[in-house]
Parts: sequence; structure tokens; C-alpha cells
Amino acid sequence: MSHSDAASEREDNNPAGNHRPELLDCCGGLNNVDYSKMDLTLIEELLRHMKCHDFSFCVAAIAIIFNPLFWNVVARWEHRTRGLSRIFGSPYLACYFLGFVIILLNICRSHSITMAMKAQDRWELMDRTDISYIGVFFLVLGTVLVVSSFLALGFTGTFLGDYFGILMDEKVTGFPFNITENPMYWGSTANYLGLALMGASPVGLVLTALVAVAYKVAIHFEGPFTEQIYQERSQRRKHE
Ligand SMILES: *[C@@H]1O[C@H](CO)[C@@H](O)[C@H](O)[C@H]1NC(C)=O
Repeated sequence: MSHSDAASEREDNNPAGNHRPELLDCCGGLNNVDYSKMDLTLIEELLRHMKCHDFSFCVAAIAIIFNPLFWNVVARWEHRTRGLSRIFGSPYLACYFLGFVIILLNICRSHSITMAMKAQDRWELMDRTDISYIGVFFLVLGTVLVVSSFLALGFTGTFLGDYFGILMDEKVTGFPFNITENPMYWGSTANYLGLALMGASPVGLVLTALVAVAYKVAIHFEGPFTEQIYQERSQRRKHE
């Protein structure tokens, strides 16, 4: 069967596929979002009020995807080879270095998101005082989550110290970890949501959704891995 036959057969077998609302060609990456739970027309309207082919939008999107990918790849490489620790002569120095690079990358990401929002128009529908106040609320909430989780974890705990063999004595369970398991990630997402709402920015909302998806994927890979690191330690302790 030729390629086109297969394609047409698939369409015949799947007539429902023809009724799918046409997505904007650029925004296929958001297919992961469960549209059925949202107001479809509102989302379509939102996407219509932004340009995906904008240069600053693409830069921001790349930064959002690159950052968690970068620190996961580097941290796993360190865990496997102790390469960074060897270069710096100490796991602490290596972890401080990676933390510093992550902070710089996140400043770049925030800057690129701000530029992408500035490059495009505000959306009248969002340009309201109450929505702006909700934005302030999310910004404050996000800042509280990020700052409090940094204070609870410390520098090495925040910046993947586990992968460098710098383990916490015990799992942190106090605030803000009694509210969400990943307060740093969701706090950061809340910050971007706040900025998008305050700026009445459709691009800001779409980029915030991308941040959420990127973090969701990162958590999916980090969670079981750090769990395993701590399990290995408790097994080592039992043997000693
Ligand atoms: C989380 O911990 C804080 C401080 O320990 C406490 O005040 C707060 O009520 C707790 N929240 C939940 C949802 O358990």
C-alpha cells in the first residue's frame, strides 16, 4: 500500500478526526494541554491574539525548554561520572558553579519572556484592573513559594546537590513542601502567570503554559531519580 493510500484509509477509519478544530500551525507544541477541560473558544481567541512566528516568542520558547533540559543533563552526567566535581576539585564548588549557571540561565529566560510579552500587543479582554490584581496575587504567591523553598533547602539542596552526592540529612517536609512537592517549579510558574496577567499578555499566558509543561516533564524525570539516590544511601547505611 502506498503512503497516500495509508493516509486516506486512516482518515476513513477515523471520521472524527476531520471534525477536529484546526489548530494554529505554530502551536502544535501545546497539544499536551487537555483542551476538553478548558473553554475552547477562549483559547482559540487567545491564540488569535498572538503571533507565534515572532522572533522573541521563539527565543523565549527555546529558553523555556532548554533550561530544565540543560540542568538535568548536566546533573545526571555529574552523577554518573563525577566529571564536574573532578574539574572543580570538590563537589561543593561544582554544585555552586552549576547553581550559578542555572541562575544566569533563568535570568535569561525571564528576560526573554519579558521581551516576548513586550513585543506583542496587550489583549483588551485581559486588560482589566481585577485581572491585574489576580496577577499580583500569583506573583506574590510564586515569590513566597520560591523564596521559602530556597530557605528550606539551602543552596546545594535547591541546585541539584543530590546529584553531586551532597544529600540532605532528611527529606524536607515543612512549609512550603507541605503544600506542593515541587514548590520551586510551581512557584516559578506562578511568577510567570502573574507577569502575564499583569501585562494582559496572551503570549505571556502561552509561554507560562509552556513553562508548566517543561517543568512537568522535568519533575517526571527528576522525582524517581532523586528517590533512587536517597534509597541507595539508606541501603549503604544499613550495611555500615
Ligand atoms: C504547612 O506548614 C506550615 C508551617 O509549618 C503551617 O503553618 C501550615 O498550616 C501547613 N499547611 C498545610 C496545608 O499543612
